Order: sequence, then C-alpha cells, then structure tokens
Amino acid sequence: MLQLKNLDASYGFLQILWDVSLHIADGEFVGLIGPNGAGKTTTLRTIAGLLKPMKGEVLFKGHKMNTVPAHETTRMGISYISEDLNLFVDMSVRENLLMGAYIVRDQQKQLETLDFVYELFPRLKEREGQLAGTMSGGERKMLAIARGMMSNPLLLLVDEPSLGLAPHLVTDVFKSLRRLQETGVTLMLVEQRVNATLEITDRAYVMEQGRIVMEGPSSELMTNEHVKAAYLGI
Ligand SMILES: Nc1ncnc2c1ncn2[C@@H]1O[C@H](COP(=O)(O)OP(=O)(O)O)[C@@H](O)[C@H]1O
Ligand SMILES: [Mg+2]
Repeated sequence: MLQLKNLDASYGFLQILWDVSLHIADGEFVGLIGPNGAGKTTTLRTIAGLLKPMKGEVLFKGHKMNTVPAHETTRMGISYISEDLNLFVDMSVRENLLMGAYIVRDQQKQLETLDFVYELFPRLKEREGQLAGTMSGGERKMLAIARGMMSNPLLLLVDEPSLGLAPHLVTDVFKSLRRLQETGVTLMLVEQRVNATLEITDRAYVMEQGRIVMEGPSSELMTNEHVKAAYLGI
C-alpha cells in the first residue's frame, strides 16, 4: 500500500530525514518508534503531503506522491491524525466528525460512516452533542481518531496518541486502533511508548536521528538487545 524509497526531507536548510525506506502492506498495522526529535512526525507529514521530500519517492498504491498536496492525499485515502489533534473546540462531537467527512460528497454516505464510527466508539455517540473542548483528554484522542476515519481512509497515520494520557487511557486508545485494523484499515502508529506499541503492532521500524536503524516483526524487536536497552529499560 505504501512505500518510501530512500527519502530525504528537510525544513529549510536543515535536513531531518536521511535515506528513509519503509513499506506497509495492505491491512498491516505498523509502528514507527524512536526518541523525541528522531523525525517520526516529519516522516508522517511527508507521507500526508504536508512536506515535500528533497529526494527519494513516496509511493501510495503505486502512485508517486512526492508533489501531491495534503488535501489530495486525503482524497486518495490517506488520513493523518496529528499530535495536536486540531479539533474544533467550539463545535460538538457530531459536528467535528462531520467535518472529517468533508471530502465525501454524498450525504447519505457521510451518515453511514458516522454510524459506523459511532459503533466503533460508543462513547462518542453518547456524547455527540457535547462541545469537543469540554471532552476529557482520552475522549479527545478518540474523537480525533474517529474524525480521521470519517473520510473512509485506506491508510490511517496516527501520531503519538498516547501523549499526555494516563496509562489506562493509553490502553483504551490502543485497543481502539486494533479494532480499526480489524475493520480492514491499514495503520501506521508513531509512538514513544515503545512497549505498548510493540504489543499491538504487527511490525515496526526504529528511527533515530532521522534514519531507520532497525525493523522487524514487533515480537522480535521486543526481545532485541538494542531495543531492550535503549527503549524498554531492561
Ligand atoms: N517546522 C519545523 N521547522 C524546523 N525544524 C523542525 C520543524 N519541525 C520539526 N523540526 C525539527 O525536526 C526534527 C525532527 O522532528 P520531529 O519529526 O517532530 O521528531 P519526532 O516526531 O520524532 O519527535 C527535530 O529536531 C525538530 O526540532
Ligand atoms: Mg513527533
């Protein structure tokens, strides 16, 4: 579904990504882990069309995406849920969700997707009239993920959903991502919580200082000496 080939990316003259290659198959749940500042968000922004790579290729379902703008990548099936969520705090849960479906022209289809999303996140259905700004931290993450689903994406990119959440809420959010995978969505999860990420993903990449330094099935990475020492504190 997605392939990055030897990608370099920069902000101005400051190069951030160096020769990044990775791939995600249809239906896979892939993690991208690594320390703060490693370039994980930059990688997602490049895939989502928010940042143009200097070198290399972004291929999505065989299409070269290097210069495709963000609104078009959404239309093609990529949904990016950023760290800062970008919810409309003065709008209700339902209104936020419908904003996520702005690329879907057919209103009937929008409402069907809304029902589907409410089935996945019953709590949002209960709270559909509540203002997004008054939701708890965990509920807001759920809302942002649910809104990301409203465009019927093929590929969902989720950036650090655990940020600022209490541990038991992290488990809830991660479980909801797992449920999304079961509905057939392909997912890429960027996280600093390495242990929890390796527990729910099929495969993962480790990024350090803008480079992919390791990759493999998540279960294998969990027992890898470098991963254990650098990220799991074992
Ligand atoms: N808009 C920007 N302008 C300049 N530098 C940036 C910008 N965004 C991020 N960076 C820098 O790029 C590096 C990688 O950042 P980021 O991709 O956000 O890392 P991560 O998500 O792994 O924490 C960091 O050194 C960060 O300071
Ligand atoms: Mg980040």
